[in-house]
Amino acid sequence: TGAITLDEGFVNTGSTQSAITFLDGEQGILRYRGYPIEALAENCDFVEVCYLLLHGELPNEEQITAFRNDLRQHTMLHEDMRKFYDGFQHDAHPMAILSSVIHALSTFYADSLDVRNPSDVHRCSMRLLAKAPTIAAYAYKKSIGQPYMHPDNTLNYCENFLQMMFSVPAEKYEIDEVAAAALNLLLIVHADHEQNCSTSTVRMVGSSDANLFASISAGVAALSGPLHGGANEACVSMLERIREDGGDVDKYVKMAKDKTAGFRLMGFGHRVYKSFDPRAKIIKKACHDLLNRGHIDDPIFDIALRLEEVALTDPYFVERKLYPNVDFYSGVIYRALGIPVEMFTVLFAIGRMPGWIAHWQEMRESPGKRIYRPRQVYTGPVERSFVPIEKR
Ligand code: CMC
Repeated sequence: TGAITLDEGFVNTGSTQSAITFLDGEQGILRYRGYPIEALAENCDFVEVCYLLLHGELPNEEQITAFRNDLRQHTMLHEDMRKFYDGFQHDAHPMAILSSVIHALSTFYADSLDVRNPSDVHRCSMRLLAKAPTIAAYAYKKSIGQPYMHPDNTLNYCENFLQMMFSVPAEKYEIDEVAAAALNLLLIVHADHEQNCSTSTVRMVGSSDANLFASISAGVAALSGPLHGGANEACVSMLERIREDGGDVDKYVKMAKDKTAGFRLMGFGHRVYKSFDPRAKIIKKACHDLLNRGHIDDPIFDIALRLEEVALTDPYFVERKLYPNVDFYSGVIYRALGIPVEMFTVLFAIGRMPGWIAHWQEMRESPGKRIYRPRQVYTGPVERSFVPIEKR
């Protein structure tokens, strides 16, 4: 084992070369295919960003029209898939539903799963992008006992998702343009983030030649943890707890610094960003915009602002370079859109879908592609003599 370098948590180990996303943690820079996320968030819709991540270039009019039409072909779920929903408990976590149903897509489309066939891969990619909002909205409808709403292909991606979440049969549903625009922004800033835990998982699983649905399902599972995508849910729960506890942010900052308290400030800190998280800046600004337009009237936003202010001047956080991350303010917007807390990480997963797929494809197309197989430093016992059961 002398030649093995141990890097627990892969702090400084590059697992791959990648041309998808550039991230500079010291300067707070994030670019997809060379384009700063600030410019994409201001000028694009999420579907264009999906195209960019998958194809490496921004689409022209013709290309994006074809891409949107392609997506529209795949928004519906096979009727038999509803039976899965009948079997889930009403309070099943929607991330578990999302991961399970995505894996189950491979049982419905078993004839187009060849990882070496570009048209199969293309179809799987489109199915994932188009069906993720439907799968997610059905999970929500299941949890509240309402009828599942079919996708409406006359609407755009975000409007359609909101429609499937919040409309009910036989009642006219008014699209809230401000809500759809806010959702669009959130999906864009979540769309990729190079070799994070879930993306590395997708590449790892795919490296064994597992199909795209299996790989993405594993990525959703990785994202569900509270140290990763689950932090947005954990963050809002924390802000809510602080509010119920009288809004004393200092008390919680103190607790976060106490290593014996077993409490961290959710939505704070990042493995790579050491000056600020550019995504958090964009989302915080969007929160203010929504507040000014009367779309946010939520005491937890005020608590979040105060918590950030206290933490950012506290030496503990300053020394460790702990700043608000993407998950700190996203929950405030989701709440303003009426999205329940259990669905927050699901929204993250819908946003991250194009990034996962782009990485899976890049991994497959890499000239040096081989199965991911990290090594270890063994710390168990040296060879021992076998002891028969009656002598143990
Ligand atoms: N609150 C209090 N202390 C913290 C926090 C926090 N949120 N984050 C890190 N620290 C401390 C940590 O205790 C350690 O202190 P010391 O050096 O005294 O032992 C130091 O800062 C470094 O932390 P680490 O755990 O070694 O850092 P990491 O790079 O392994 O972990 C992290 C990064 C994001 C998991 C961590 O900062 C964390 O747990 N944050 C809260 C959860 C969260 O917001 N996650 C979302 C991440 S961004 C989006 C995503 O990936 O999905």
